[in-house]
Amino acid sequence: MLDTVKTRRAPLDPIETASRDEISALQLTRMKDTLKRAYEGSPFYRRKFDEVGVHPDDLKTLADLAKFPFTVKQDLRDNYPFGMFAVPQDQIARLHASSGTTGKPTVVAYTKNDIEMWAEVVARSIRAAGGAPGDILHNAYGYGLFTGGLGAHYGAEKAGCTVIPVSGGMTERQVTLIEDLKPSIIMVTPSYMLSILDAYRAAGLDPRASSLKVGIFGAEPWTNAMREEIEHAFDMDAVDIYGLSEVIGPGVAQECVETKDGLHIWEDHFYPEVINPETGEPVAEGEKGELVFTSLTKEAFPIIRYRTRDLTRLLPGTARSMRRMEKVTGRSDDMIILRGVNIFPTQIEEQILKCAGLSPHYEIVLSRQGRMDTMTVRCECKEGESAAHVAGEASRELMHHIKSVIGVSSRVEVVEPGGVMRSVGKAKRVRDERPER
Ligand code: DLL
Repeated sequence: MLDTVKTRRAPLDPIETASRDEISALQLTRMKDTLKRAYEGSPFYRRKFDEVGVHPDDLKTLADLAKFPFTVKQDLRDNYPFGMFAVPQDQIARLHASSGTTGKPTVVAYTKNDIEMWAEVVARSIRAAGGAPGDILHNAYGYGLFTGGLGAHYGAEKAGCTVIPVSGGMTERQVTLIEDLKPSIIMVTPSYMLSILDAYRAAGLDPRASSLKVGIFGAEPWTNAMREEIEHAFDMDAVDIYGLSEVIGPGVAQECVETKDGLHIWEDHFYPEVINPETGEPVAEGEKGELVFTSLTKEAFPIIRYRTRDLTRLLPGTARSMRRMEKVTGRSDDMIILRGVNIFPTQIEEQILKCAGLSPHYEIVLSRQGRMDTMTVRCECKEGESAAHVAGEASRELMHHIKSVIGVSSRVEVVEPGGVMRSVGKAKRVRDERPER
């Protein structure tokens, strides 16, 4: 199975194997151009640069970018809907928006060239995942305002694939379509892939016998343990795709199928930095911190030093010359602070997947008893088992792993298969029922 994917590799873009010097030179030219376009086209950026007394001409080297101010999500909210854009509205070909958990959505914009560039980086991502012209690609990312569906769609067409634009939902039909149309690639959130897996089993079908060879999973954090689980269940390769609406959508970075060692950032279009989230200062090379992006070619909505809140570290290139980012294990705003201990849902996921009797569907419920915060991990027993049968041993095992690896006491509730709410897109892992202090 792996061999089929590996032997029909589509050719790479020359920049993917260019020298670091070539990449840096291209980045510098493009960064200068981006700062100039942002300053001249976007009243927001002009004001922001003027306020701190910097001018696009102050950028002589890539390191000079640190002189420029950060952009944060609140800036998009404050300038809702069109206040940050750098081209007149008649040059904007498309808008996308994120629903946002609080208040107003945030809106992002694309010119025709932006959409073309986006399709290119997604096509490059699909090739890195092992896709080639002629592959049938099942796209179960949500279509609409979310960037996942249309972003993947245009990229897949550009890569020469035959796209099945299913979108999310109607899980049984997803299975029927996979069985009938025989796609070799699927693009979907990893949590929804698990729902598709459930539907396969419920239909009495063997997922390992499906036509799927590669899954390109992203839009939410997932662990290497989850990768193994999905790869084994479907007998497929599972690789990670990263992106965010403010920067473009999916296709900012992609893991290569031959190495599966983190995600290569498409650095000819997106310039990464990692900063200390507390101080805003760049961290030492290779150290973990908050990922920050500057777009290098975007026209409608150039983004300068956008603070993603995603935590990762930068690593040197391997399968490609462009730098890698380590798998994002969490966002600074998803972090649970339980009795002073910082915990990311993915750390819990890893421990669940160590327990033989448990399936990877889970939810973390935070509550308070008296003055004491408690964490309950609700997870399901494996299909074909009964919760009553495995609960005792599995919960003891999971509590032990959580205590010994993460260092906190927790409760574990094992429920029947299907007992944890399923997501169609991004999974919501944490339910915080603690009253405000
Ligand atoms: O989730 C774009 C996307 C669609 C990426 C499909 C990949 C596949 P937003 O809705 O703006 O855009 O959410 C962006 O999702 O800042 C991360 O916190 C998270 N995220 C995206 N990809 C990954 C990933 C899309 N591979 C936010 N691993 C980002 C971990 C991810 N988190």
